[in-house]
Amino acid sequence: MSHVTESQKDKVLTLTLNRADKKNALTRHMYQSLADALVKANEDENIKVVRIEAAGDCFTAGNDISDFAQQDDGRQISEISAFMHALVDCTKPVVAQVHGMAVGIGTTLLLHCDLVYAAKNTRFILPFINLGLVPEYASSYLLPRLAGRRKASEWLMLGEPFSAQDAYEGGIVTAVLNEEQLAERVDKVCQSLAAKPQFSLHHTKSLLNSDKEAIEQHINVELDVFLEAMDSEAAREAFDAFLHKRPINPEKFK
Ligand code: COA
Repeated sequence: MSHVTESQKDKVLTLTLNRADKKNALTRHMYQSLADALVKANEDENIKVVRIEAAGDCFTAGNDISDFAQQDDGRQISEISAFMHALVDCTKPVVAQVHGMAVGIGTTLLLHCDLVYAAKNTRFILPFINLGLVPEYASSYLLPRLAGRRKASEWLMLGEPFSAQDAYEGGIVTAVLNEEQLAERVDKVCQSLAAKPQFSLHHTKSLLNSDKEAIEQHINVELDVFLEAMDSEAAREAFDAFLHKRPINPEKFK
């Protein structure tokens, strides 16, 4: 079965992360499926809204660390880039429905969605620093602007989990809901968006994205540092420790 499922109803395309046994950790194949679906949605007149959600008890545990651990001259991130660029370039409103854990890119991607609804139980974490990595896909640009520099520094420099309420106060989340109300609310929001006039919807999103060029520039700046970090001893040690379910050796994590 595919680890990303697609379904369409009433002009709403739903993309479901569907690798629950691995906490929806995102593989290269999943990123490519998401990228392809978003590119297709842009071109399809019958799709007015994209919804991203996840099966199981977790939104996503972020990048699949075994993919990351492959030393592949940076090629292991090409599908991630394809997905994130497709998300940034998506002209249709993107609505995210989040529950459980939203780790790493699982939080970063929300910064590029238009509306984000989170269950009360959601825990967000940007653990890059704990993996010897750096922020990605404009999170170091967008988070200070959304949440303020102090919060952004806390989330990105300490790499500790934070609650749905914190994410709401920091502007990452549109609303926090009881888990049993979440899907119904997102259904209603998607239907409401799908009923709006296409021209107004399209241009409202485009007008709200006036700093897209700056975001894209920042993504490139971050990517250079990210690739360097991925090749560092600290990152290799963190990936290996996770994959072998052992503690990080501080001697190799400097
Ligand atoms: N990459 C690859 N595999 C992952 C993964 C990831 N990011 N996150 C979870 N998994 C796998 C685990 O290895 C485990 O596989 P196994 O059953 O074959 O042993 C399975 O998914 C379940 O994960 P587990 O850790 O047992 O679940 P948990 O409920 O105890 O913890 C998390 C959930 C998300 C807190 C924990 O899995 C975690 O910290 N994952 C890594 C998150 C991360 O650092 N992501 C990278 C961001 S760049």
